[in-house]
Amino acid sequence: MKRVLSVASEAVPLVKTGGLADVVGALPGALAGQGWDMRVLIPAYPGVLERLAPPPPPVTTTAVPGKGGRRGKGAPQADAPAVLWSDPDLFGGPARVLAGQVGGVQVLALDAPHLYDRPGGPYSGPAGDHWDNAERFAALSWAAAAIARDGLAEPGGDTPWRPQILHAHDWQAGLAPAYLKWWGVDVPSILTIHNMAFQGRVGPAKRAALRLPAEGFQRDGYEFWGDISTLKAGLMNADAITTVSPRYAEELMRGEFGLGLEGVIQLRAGAVHGILNGIDDTVWNPETDPAITPYSAARLTGKAINRKALQAEFNLGEVPGPLLILVSRLTPQKGIDLLPGALDGFIAAGGGLAILGSGDPWAEEMVQGLAARFPGRVGVKIGYDEGLSHRMFAGGDAVLVPSRFEPCGLTQLYGLRYGCVPVVSAVGGLADTVIGLSPATEAAGAATGIVFHPVDDLALRQALQRLTEAWADRKGWAAMVKRGMRTDWGWARSAAAYGALYDRLSGQP
Ligand code: ADP
Ligand code: GLC
Repeated sequence: MKRVLSVASEAVPLVKTGGLADVVGALPGALAGQGWDMRVLIPAYPGVLERLAPPPPPVTTTAVPGKGGRRGKGAPQADAPAVLWSDPDLFGGPARVLAGQVGGVQVLALDAPHLYDRPGGPYSGPAGDHWDNAERFAALSWAAAAIARDGLAEPGGDTPWRPQILHAHDWQAGLAPAYLKWWGVDVPSILTIHNMAFQGRVGPAKRAALRLPAEGFQRDGYEFWGDISTLKAGLMNADAITTVSPRYAEELMRGEFGLGLEGVIQLRAGAVHGILNGIDDTVWNPETDPAITPYSAARLTGKAINRKALQAEFNLGEVPGPLLILVSRLTPQKGIDLLPGALDGFIAAGGGLAILGSGDPWAEEMVQGLAARFPGRVGVKIGYDEGLSHRMFAGGDAVLVPSRFEPCGLTQLYGLRYGCVPVVSAVGGLADTVIGLSPATEAAGAATGIVFHPVDDLALRQALQRLTEAWADRKGWAAMVKRGMRTDWGWARSAAAYGALYDRLSGQP
């Protein structure tokens, strides 16, 4: 097998705050079919250590542990201390790597308790975002680059596992391709942008702590409006850049979506590829999903049972029109703020809405206000609940994704698979995956959802009206539901695209 190291801050089934984790967790299985043995390096947060319990013994690199992880010679030494580095000045303390298997994913957990042994999510604790997130994820990136440079000793094997490709995800891993270039390591790297809005931006005073070379602090380097951007460092140094839909790759060339980094994308245009995410069919399949009453495109009766159950779970009364769902982080990206100005007509025409989400306090309050305004028709659950999300796609008639920007988006794909028709704004991966209902697509028998533009409350209101009308045409609706369910959004196509990119960059046949 060819070898690739994937490095990210979250991965299903270990830790998830959004789609990044779904994708990082699904890629190893998808790439195995392309002949690539992918291992995933993530921080050993407490939850990760629990899943690896009892903790596997640490694995060594071939490097001589010590000052900044200098390069050692030859094969891994059996008696070498199992640390990645021990220098107390390097990211504040020593680190080691634990190698284990969880849910079919080969995990390399970076164990550095002073950085990762904290309560809360991957980025924040009870008191908010961690003050040292830049250091925490620079350490992760450094570890990835060190593994690519030195290889890891395989337990029981005599040749180290040294990746032929390093695949970094988002700003948290942005420095990995940069360290590789600065160290002169010949392992090609890829940086995938899952979200350009998170740029890993910190003040220049952190430069030494992040081990960034002074000469890189300039426009053609990692400098960004007087600050450091770890995402920019990655974009400037990775051998290839991918983003999670072709449309988002194009959008990123413009300031509106590039958010200050559009110049870098233009500069590197020849190295930028849009590769759409897939969905994990073993987890998202209405025929086998243990969380629901199963159904298929050929036999939809189960869906009506799921709809009833969902209404009850959200304390909704009878919903004579379409039952719309929304499963989302509640942040400005997701266009949630458009809801108050767009729902009246939809609810008056018989529609209902079930919302599951968590995020910004103002948004949580706002959606709770909707439940109070439309009792029995709008139900809201604040929180994160994987099982409930499955029941919602199974029971919902339509899923709303009114994002201002959406690099790929996974919920519209889950919706398609579950016969829960997507109602989406025409941006990024939403535009790339949903065929909007129009006279043309109706004539061609091609529509799989409702697509609206521009992203404002007037357009959303009209989209919801179109939804109500489309839903009332029971025959046309059933055809659209089935068309969506039969479209293949599995990983095969995208895995082949990643595999081909890895092959090309690493010079593998
Ligand atoms: P993003 O990564 O920007 O949040 P995606 O659509 O790519 O958007 O991925 C979101 C993922 O998180 C999906 O798997 C979605 O089902 C899940 N998700 C979001 N919010 C919740 C929630 N409150 N409860 C359960 N799952 C959620
Ligand atoms: C990001 C994006 C989302 C994408 C996900 C996985 O969180 O916001 O659109 O689907 O990453 O790539």
